[in-house]
Amino acid sequence: MAGPLHFDALAETYQQARPPYPEALWDRLRELEVLRPGVRVIELGAGTGEATMRLLGAGADVVAVEPGRALAARLRLRCPSARVVIARAEDAAMGEAQFDLAVAATSVHWLDLGVVIPKLRRAIVDDGHLAVWRTAFGDPRTTTPFRDRIDAIVARRVDEPVRPGPGELDTEGWARLLSSSGDFTVVHVDEFRWTIDLSADQVHGLFRTFSNWTASEAQAAAEAARDLGGTVTEHYVTPLILLRRT
Ligand SMILES: C[S@@+](CC[C@H](N)C(=O)[O-])C[C@H]1O[C@@H](n2cnc3c(N)ncnc32)[C@H](O)[C@@H]1O
Repeated sequence: MAGPLHFDALAETYQQARPPYPEALWDRLRELEVLRPGVRVIELGAGTGEATMRLLGAGADVVAVEPGRALAARLRLRCPSARVVIARAEDAAMGEAQFDLAVAATSVHWLDLGVVIPKLRRAIVDDGHLAVWRTAFGDPRTTTPFRDRIDAIVARRVDEPVRPGPGELDTEGWARLLSSSGDFTVVHVDEFRWTIDLSADQVHGLFRTFSNWTASEAQAAAEAARDLGGTVTEHYVTPLILLRRT
């Protein structure tokens, strides 16, 4: 399986291919009043700024931590009003009581939580929050001919990459892990299900960005989309876990 800098080597594809987060997620963050004008946010693993853009658009002041230099360069261009720090979250200086909200958007599984969670507790104000979400590219509840083809590609792997930690849709497992040190307590859990139509070229770009997919597997996924008429409807899930500093 590729390491955390997999995305940096594919920065341009990453920016073009990764879909935005669902609108309902942003609505919920605003309803919960953790995202509001003037809120001070530290974002971990900001990539090319898919979430950063929306945080800034909601009126937040954002410090965006991103270790990949190519990703960070794109992030700076896309989000000039964010302060971009090129570092791993484990190494970044975060100070004390500097932020109201920490965000990890499809990045928490790359972090050493034993180091990052206590750092965040120090960096966040009393009653501040940590919002963690990620998109699972494939809803196990929905079967489609395209998904059958994807399953067949994955089934051909000799060594299926295994990532440590809870599965991407094991939201309870993630909630337990994120709160296990006692630094944060879970206050809200949600799950957003959504669909997107992708052309075969878009399938190719998107699957290239997945750290557990090889180039030839991404090619096979695009061929599957072409065989199925050239456009496929994908069903995705975005779980959200909101925690409050204890
Ligand atoms: C799947 S991408 C998500 C990027 C972005 N948040 C988004 O929603 O599109 C994961 C990101 O985490 C970053 N990353 C990996 N290890 C990290 C670490 N230790 N600290 C901070 N970011 C990290 C990667 O460079 C990459 O930008």
